[in-house]
Amino acid sequence: MASSSSSTLLLAASILATLASSAHGIPKVPPGPNITATYGDKWLDAKSTWYGKPTGAGPKDNGGACGYKDVDKEPFSGMTSCGNTPIFRDGRGCGSCFEIKCTKPDACSGDPVLVHITDDNEEPIAAYHFDLSGHAFGSMAKKGKEQDLRSAGEVEIQFRRVKCKYPEGTKVTFHVEKGSSPNYLAILVKYVGGDGDVVAVDVKEKGKDEWVALKESWGAVWRLDTAKPLKGPLTVRYTTDGGTKGESEDVIPEDWKPDTMYESK
Ligand SMILES: *[C@@H]1O[C@H](CO)[C@@H](O)[C@H](O)[C@H]1NC(C)=O
Repeated sequence: MASSSSSTLLLAASILATLASSAHGIPKVPPGPNITATYGDKWLDAKSTWYGKPTGAGPKDNGGACGYKDVDKEPFSGMTSCGNTPIFRDGRGCGSCFEIKCTKPDACSGDPVLVHITDDNEEPIAAYHFDLSGHAFGSMAKKGKEQDLRSAGEVEIQFRRVKCKYPEGTKVTFHVEKGSSPNYLAILVKYVGGDGDVVAVDVKEKGKDEWVALKESWGAVWRLDTAKPLKGPLTVRYTTDGGTKGESEDVIPEDWKPDTMYESK
């Protein structure tokens, strides 16, 4: 009896699995070309969904695959999104800015709102897919219709890449990650205006001429392993996707500590 009921169960499970896979037989849409800083400013089509709390900033309102924290606070202020492969670009897309808008359903205002890429999503549902925070998704709605729009769940949108503009007084910020030591430095770079995304990070010890290149670690984190201990203060240089360079002199002080945030002056 036991064996016959378990084989019935197995059969039922395999039928269910077949049904589920054909229900999921929605064709996988291949990702579109990478959205780099040089693609222009053409509006393109995308799908949008949302996650986390209805008025929140994403997963536990606290970052995601880019490694940012406090994404519910200024300057991201919860206007955050996961990008699919050509938008997240293995972490390269972290910090890039997009305008998004929708016209259907009726709850859509049609007005563009600006979102920051802070996380990754890989569902193959569209060439371009923005999985938005509940707050960002609702922001595409007419006033008072935010919840109606969120109820739609998945909405066709248009998007374009734009320059990032942070509120006046926002400084490029370097978070020296936990576990950093004189022989291992990991820095998370955030709030870079303009292109927003960073493609190279170098550091220089005070009084030296030589820049030392960091490697991409994950998300917005860059790392350096060095046999020769690094001595602060360190100047950090970052290069954006479009080739703009910025330098923050002596931003990491001599007595730097891991798990600490340093702002450019
Ligand atoms: C798209 O971006 C990813 C991540 O940076 C990169 O590995 C890949 O080569 C890029 N693809 C193209 C076609 O440039």
